[in-house]
Amino acid sequence: MNYETVILGAGAAGLMCAAHAGPGVLVVDHARAPGEKIRISGGGRCNFTNLHTGPDNFLSANPHFAKSALTRYTQWDFIDLVNRHGIAWHEKTLGQLFCDGSAKQIVAMLVAELDRAGGTLWLQTSLRDLAARESGFDLTLEREGVRHAVHCRNLVLATGGKSIPKMGATGLAYDIATRFGLRVTETRPALVPLTFPEGRFAGLAGVSCPARLSNDRASFDEALLFTHRGLSGPAILQLSSYWREGEEIAVNLFPDLDLPTHLREQRRREGRRRIATILARYLPARLVQHLGTTLPLAERLADQSDARLAQLAAALTDWRLTPSGSEGYRTAEVTLGGIDTAALSSRTLQAHAVPGLYAIGEAVDVTGWLGGYNFQWAWASGHAAGTAI
Ligand code: FDA
Repeated sequence: MNYETVILGAGAAGLMCAAHAGPGVLVVDHARAPGEKIRISGGGRCNFTNLHTGPDNFLSANPHFAKSALTRYTQWDFIDLVNRHGIAWHEKTLGQLFCDGSAKQIVAMLVAELDRAGGTLWLQTSLRDLAARESGFDLTLEREGVRHAVHCRNLVLATGGKSIPKMGATGLAYDIATRFGLRVTETRPALVPLTFPEGRFAGLAGVSCPARLSNDRASFDEALLFTHRGLSGPAILQLSSYWREGEEIAVNLFPDLDLPTHLREQRRREGRRRIATILARYLPARLVQHLGTTLPLAERLADQSDARLAQLAAALTDWRLTPSGSEGYRTAEVTLGGIDTAALSSRTLQAHAVPGLYAIGEAVDVTGWLGGYNFQWAWASGHAAGTAI
């Protein structure tokens, strides 16, 4: 069987690529359904893009690499597509766009676009063999127990990263890239909850509050969530992409308040009150109780010197914590790192050294922040390769 192009992976990037690559495209996936990560994304509503998408929202060894694809297929282009398909959406927060209805609408839209372009989709199909030829690639695909020899001119690696192996994530794109001599940078789980020794936040599971989470590399103002295992919530997921084992993180529980000044002011106005009473106006009661096990929160404000109030404010705005690890690929939303961008054209996503070989989406060393950025990279890189083919 001859195809112009075979795309390995019917996820966000692969389907988008197929929609733009025209007829003669075969999309192959080992899953039972296409776009499974899209289906479960955003709590079932798919945070499909972000109004504020720009190159600064991505991590990569080459921070300039994503610019070309992102500017040639923008968040507005994807919003246009969603509108053309009559899918209702809303902005939730921080520019994050979600479907009003269901993430399944986005999957259905992409499959409709693939059909419109004349592409073919083979599900429950595995790659058994692959060889490069002068004229392209020879593949052996196994579908429902039957082996098919397929020849194609272009081969697109769109099998994503390693996160959530239970959903069928594999390192296939990395393996193929390596076989063809393309370097793969170190990969690690990202957008992932951070863990602490058992019992560290016992009693706080389920408590959430706004906070600023920082380290030397990045800082995010979003919700912080305490869990049985440690810390989660958008602020932690964001910072996890910038965190390495053994490093501290700093938690500011009062990112929008000049706390030392505020505490001195309250001491003047209501000095007879206990510190805990003041803090409970801003923080969940269970968190104040927990903080009281190490800080003198039962004392009256009037009994505190300026220096002690400053010390207390520092403890609450620069709370240093050292996670013991992360929850790993089991729950990570994405994989940091991947196929080295130095091996690829930023315009077409084609490998410099292997004509006809392309890599797109999460398989590439481009990782977005939480908030719709990873899908926007999948759409943009899929479009860049699809239009180049
Ligand atoms: P993707 O993972 O989508 O697709 C890869 C495809 O390849 C899959 O269909 C898989 O079955 C197939 N495949 C893998 N190995 C194979 C093999 N060996 N043989 C054949 N096929 C194989 N992002 C965002 O922007 N907004 C959001 O709301 C969310 N929410 C979210 C929730 C959860 C729970 C997760 C895990 C992730 C998100 N993400 C997200 C991240 C987003 O889902 C992710 O970045 C994109 O799906 C990446 O698109 P790709 O097409 O590169 O990979």
